[in-house]
Amino acid sequence: MPEMPLIFREISAMRQKVAQWRAAGETVALIPTMGALHAGHVSLVEASRAHARRAIVSIFVNPTQFAPNEDFSAYPRTFDADLAKLAEVGCDGCFAPTPGEMYPQGFSTQVIPGGPALAGLEDRFRPDHFAGVAQVVAKLLNQAQADCAFFGEKDFQQLAVIRRMAADLDMSTRIFGVPTRRETDGLAMSSRNVYLTAPERALAVTLSRVLRASAETIKAGAPVNEVVARASREIEAAGFALDYFEARNADSLAPAASLADGPIRLLVAARLGKTRLIDNWAVE
Ligand code: PAJ
Repeated sequence: MPEMPLIFREISAMRQKVAQWRAAGETVALIPTMGALHAGHVSLVEASRAHARRAIVSIFVNPTQFAPNEDFSAYPRTFDADLAKLAEVGCDGCFAPTPGEMYPQGFSTQVIPGGPALAGLEDRFRPDHFAGVAQVVAKLLNQAQADCAFFGEKDFQQLAVIRRMAADLDMSTRIFGVPTRRETDGLAMSSRNVYLTAPERALAVTLSRVLRASAETIKAGAPVNEVVARASREIEAAGFALDYFEARNADSLAPAASLADGPIRLLVAARLGKTRLIDNWAVE
């Protein structure tokens, strides 16, 4: 049986252990998650191995990043299975605070991210989402005092928001991005994929297929706006309600009209029945 990670319910317990590790000369990575762990999350832990001796995964379904109409109460909670996966990958610690530990009575500080948080992608459809993400990630980074923290490119705008916030607020934890892990057919792994019915699951692969084909067509010299328009039509024709399909500068997230504007990232968000899926792809 693989060894279970240490479970921290309190900030002070995690801090004490991190301080102990660091005093012994060991580096520490933090991997923030909302649980319902899958191989994408596990890949973040694996990526951390190249940079830190110890890994702590936090599991907290953060209420402040969900809008009232979103899936906060329905969000999958699978703590025992999560712990088993963490044990298997050799994760050292799991920080699983209660809502009261994170947001005690009287809590009243907002973190309002600008820049990439206002790029006109996710923020157009989830207006308060990144304020909630920035708030909880700022807290987690302060709480853990880790050397480095790992986030997935799956949530590409989120990664940009967190990088910006950590730089702007002089946080000393180094932020790393990790490529998206996919199912064998190309669907980006996500805790929300469990919401998909079997026919929706079969259709869901359309997003990565169209992203990849679009990236190749742009690379081959086709006009970006035409490729984006065709991709949008294809996704809608497959039965999705499309929120956006956009070509952006991979660094600034500013609209990208051609390859001459620098590295392009294609980003998509679309709904299939009740499930909202996001994905993105580098043109390279
Ligand atoms: P969650 O959706 O649980 O994702 C936790 C981390 O795993 C994020 O950094 C996300 O980008 C990464 N991730 C998700 N799917 C992935 C995949 N297929 N491949 C690689 N990485 C993947 O994102 C959040 O939680 C929250 O917003 C959080 C940052 C924890 C703040 O509450």
